[in-house]
Amino acid sequence: STRLPDAQVAVLETASATDALTIDELADATGRKPETVTGAVFDLRDAGLVAIEEQEESTASLTDEGETYREAALPEVRLYEAARDAGAADDPAPMGQVIGASGLEGPEVDIALSNYARKGYGDIGGGEITAAADADPESDAEAAALDAVAAGDAESVDGDTLDQLESRGLVAISERTVRSVTLTDDGVTLLMEGVEAAQTVDRLTPELLTSGEWRDVEFTEYNVEADADEASGGKVHILRQTADRVKDTLVGMGFEEMEGPHADADFWINDCLFMPQDHPARTHWDRFALDVPPIHDLPEDLVDRVEDAHRNGVGDDGDGYHSPWSEEFARAVALRGHTTSLSMRYLSGEAVGDLEPPQRYFSVEKVYRNDTLDPTHLLEFFQIEGWVMAEDLSVRDLMGTFEEFYRQFGITDVQFKPHYNPYTEPSFELFGRHPETGELIEIGNSGMFRPEVLEPLGIDCDVMAWGLALERLLMLMYGFEDIRDVHGTLCDLELLRETEVLY
Ligand code: PHE
Repeated sequence: STRLPDAQVAVLETASATDALTIDELADATGRKPETVTGAVFDLRDAGLVAIEEQEESTASLTDEGETYREAALPEVRLYEAARDAGAADDPAPMGQVIGASGLEGPEVDIALSNYARKGYGDIGGGEITAAADADPESDAEAAALDAVAAGDAESVDGDTLDQLESRGLVAISERTVRSVTLTDDGVTLLMEGVEAAQTVDRLTPELLTSGEWRDVEFTEYNVEADADEASGGKVHILRQTADRVKDTLVGMGFEEMEGPHADADFWINDCLFMPQDHPARTHWDRFALDVPPIHDLPEDLVDRVEDAHRNGVGDDGDGYHSPWSEEFARAVALRGHTTSLSMRYLSGEAVGDLEPPQRYFSVEKVYRNDTLDPTHLLEFFQIEGWVMAEDLSVRDLMGTFEEFYRQFGITDVQFKPHYNPYTEPSFELFGRHPETGELIEIGNSGMFRPEVLEPLGIDCDVMAWGLALERLLMLMYGFEDIRDVHGTLCDLELLRETEVLY
């Protein structure tokens, strides 16, 4: 009779030629660990004695967070109920008051806010919240799905809802391979001829060594195909990796890097750019003002020339805004809404001294805007800022630079649309086609700086400049449809782990 390791013999004797048994069933029946049985089954398969059929099976379960919301209601539902109680179904209610009444705390507030409008509970904006009159938390599909998953009935939940819950981290879906085993004809024959179990050991112990027994025992083989927990190490975020690649690309195109403060005087963020002090972006709530003392060390001459440009314009036919201009307003500090503040610091000579043409500078840095969160907008994003200072630049140079830049990222159909900026003329918005949806999405803004910007800075040649969104470039490169998958508290970790940055 044939001698085989005892685990293999146990499996052979339990398996059948007609009824497939899973590894778990075999493990139960033989009283061995599933991993031991898996190893034995693979060896038997390699010897042609059993056949294995594999099936992928996924099981859904609630995460701790999912369980918490199943018991206490989803944060957006709690927010809706508080908003409705505050009368927000009739008139918008103040945000702070409703959040206070909702009892939501810490990260739950963000979670409620980012799911509220998506699920049709109402609108959020301008510090106010509304409650949709026709919304019904009782029929919240995600809440119902949490109950279904808890009851082990994930099959009844539709795929989109399950995906949504998974991306919110409320449901964990685990995939595993279920293997069913049957005896082959050779296996049946071998059993009839008779097999004998050889004692096998799976590790060498001091006892085996000292007793000399190691000479006689049979060692089990390594099974490199057994299921094992996936280990995922840390890695640099793809946004950061792509930012580094953008920097390399721009350095390769002859640009030098700018750096400067995230919180800056409005003077550098707006006034130098000939942005009127009553421009909506400056007076409205979409600017992140900081409650800190104003900045005092602004270059006095420049302040005077900028004020003069605002009041009286520049050149012969220039005509300023003839509107009030306050130095105090210019000294107030806010988070920069664009990195064009850095361009102003460099072009003015403030950062690295006066610059003679030709010059090329860039930065890939974070900017802050009080936008409403949606699939293409975040409160902060990375802007790829850049400018070229030279004699006789034209719009062709601007377009050619973008074409060269984007081509290095595989993007070849950049489109241009005339646009208006207070600080550039002409101005162009840039668009690229989303690889998944086919839609044109805005990827940047650009133009040639106006004399009203350049003259006070003391520059008498041309400067072309731009601000491109790194996140939008990522969307075109990798086909993400929602920026929040990549950035922020609701990001999709699996996606971030699996996306390889293309170099
Ligand atoms: N500051 C602009 C923006 O944030 C981009 C830009 C920079 C446009 C320089 C023209 C010139 O959208």
